[in-house]
Amino acid sequence: MKENLMKKYQLYATMGAGFESVVAKELQSLGYKTTNENGRVFFEGTQADIVKTNLWSRTADRIKILLKEFTAMDFDTLYNEVYEFDWAQLLPVDAKFPVQGRAVRSKLHSEPDVQSIVKKAIVDKMMDQYHRRGFLPESGSEYPLDVHIYKNKARISLDTTGASLFKRGYRVEHGGAPLKENFAAGLLKLTPYNGTHPIIDPMTGSGTLAIEAALIAKNVAPGSWRDFAYDNFDWFDSKLHKDALEEAKTQVKSIEAPIWASDIDQSILEIAKLNAHNAGVLQDIRFKQVAVKDFASDLENGIIIANPPYGKRLKDRESAEELYRQMGDVFRPMESFSQYYLTADPKFEECFGKKATKKRKLFNGNLRVDFYQYWANRK
Ligand SMILES: C[S@@+](CC[C@H](N)C(=O)[O-])C[C@H]1O[C@@H](n2cnc3c(N)ncnc32)[C@H](O)[C@@H]1O
Repeated sequence: MKENLMKKYQLYATMGAGFESVVAKELQSLGYKTTNENGRVFFEGTQADIVKTNLWSRTADRIKILLKEFTAMDFDTLYNEVYEFDWAQLLPVDAKFPVQGRAVRSKLHSEPDVQSIVKKAIVDKMMDQYHRRGFLPESGSEYPLDVHIYKNKARISLDTTGASLFKRGYRVEHGGAPLKENFAAGLLKLTPYNGTHPIIDPMTGSGTLAIEAALIAKNVAPGSWRDFAYDNFDWFDSKLHKDALEEAKTQVKSIEAPIWASDIDQSILEIAKLNAHNAGVLQDIRFKQVAVKDFASDLENGIIIANPPYGKRLKDRESAEELYRQMGDVFRPMESFSQYYLTADPKFEECFGKKATKKRKLFNGNLRVDFYQYWANRK
C-alpha cells in the first residue's frame, strides 16, 4: 500500500437496497467500469479514485477496498486465510482496527465469533510481523475493517469512507424524519433532473430534496464539507484530497433553472433554510410557506418531487390520504411536469386520482415505500 500510488485496488461501493443501478450509473459517469451485485457495485481504482468517488458519489453509502476473498466453511480456514494477508503493509504497529462481522446464509453463522477470529488472526500476524509480544497499543489512526460472509464466501474489506456518505455535514439535527441525503439524491437520479428544468418540492420539510437538487444543478461535490476514513491512513497521499477539493471548486456552475421548496410549516422551513445556508445554496432555492391546497405556479416543463407524510396510525393515515387528494387536485392538472412521489401508503394512486406511469419499490431505512412516477406531457 505504502509504495505505490499507481496501485489499482479492487473497490466497491455499498448502497441501500434498490439503488445498485443508480450508483453504478453514477460511477460510470465518473469514468469507471462497474459490475453489480446485491448491495454492492464493484470497480477498480487508485488512491486518487478513492478520493474522487468518496468526494463525488451522491448516492453511495461507502467506498471500500476489497482486501481478500475466499471460501470459508470453518474457523480454521477463516483464521488461516486472514493470517496469510500482509497486514503490516496495511496497518502501522499502532493502528486502531475495529473489525465488523456479518455472516449470512453461511456455515459460519455466529457473527461475534467470525469477528473475533478475524481480529485474532490479524493481531497474531501483526505481532509476528512487528516482532511484538503482549499486546498491540491500538492508539493510532483508525482503519475500519469488515468481514462479510455470504453463502460461505468471505470478503475482508477496508472502509475508506468512515461515517456514511449520507452524512454530508450540512444538516442541523432537528428530531423530524428527514430523508437521508444520499437517498434524496438517489430519488433525484431516478428522475431526468439535471439542473436545466425547474424543480419543485411542495412538502420540503428540512429541504433535503431541494438542497440535493441545488448541489446537482451547481455541480457541487457532495463530500465537500467532510473528512473521510482514508484521511487517517498513514500510507494515503494527503495531497490527493486537497487537490481534488481544489479542482471541485473550479467545477461549480451557477444555477440555470429555478428550485422551489415550500411547506405548510414555517418552523421546518427555517431549518431547511439553515441547511441550505450550510450547503452554500440558500440563494439558489426559493423557500415559501404554503399549504398544498393553496399551491400555484406559473412554471412549466419541470419536475415535481415530494415525500409527503405517511400516517402509521389510522387517524394520521386518514389525514395523509386527504392530503394526497389535495395533491391530486392541485398537481394532476400540471401536466407539463413530470411528478414523483415517495410514500408507503398503498392507497396513494387511488387518492391522488391517477395511476402512476411507473412505480418503483424502495426501502427508506427499513420502511418499504413506493416511488410513484408520473411522466409529463411536455409543452
Ligand atoms: C415527510 S416530511 C418531508 C421530509 C423532507 N423530505 C426532508 O427530507 O426533510 C413531510 C412534510 O410535509 C409537510 N406537510 C404536511 N402537510 C402539508 C400540506 N398540507 N401542505 C404542505 N406541506 C405539508 C410537513 O410539514 C412535512 O415537513
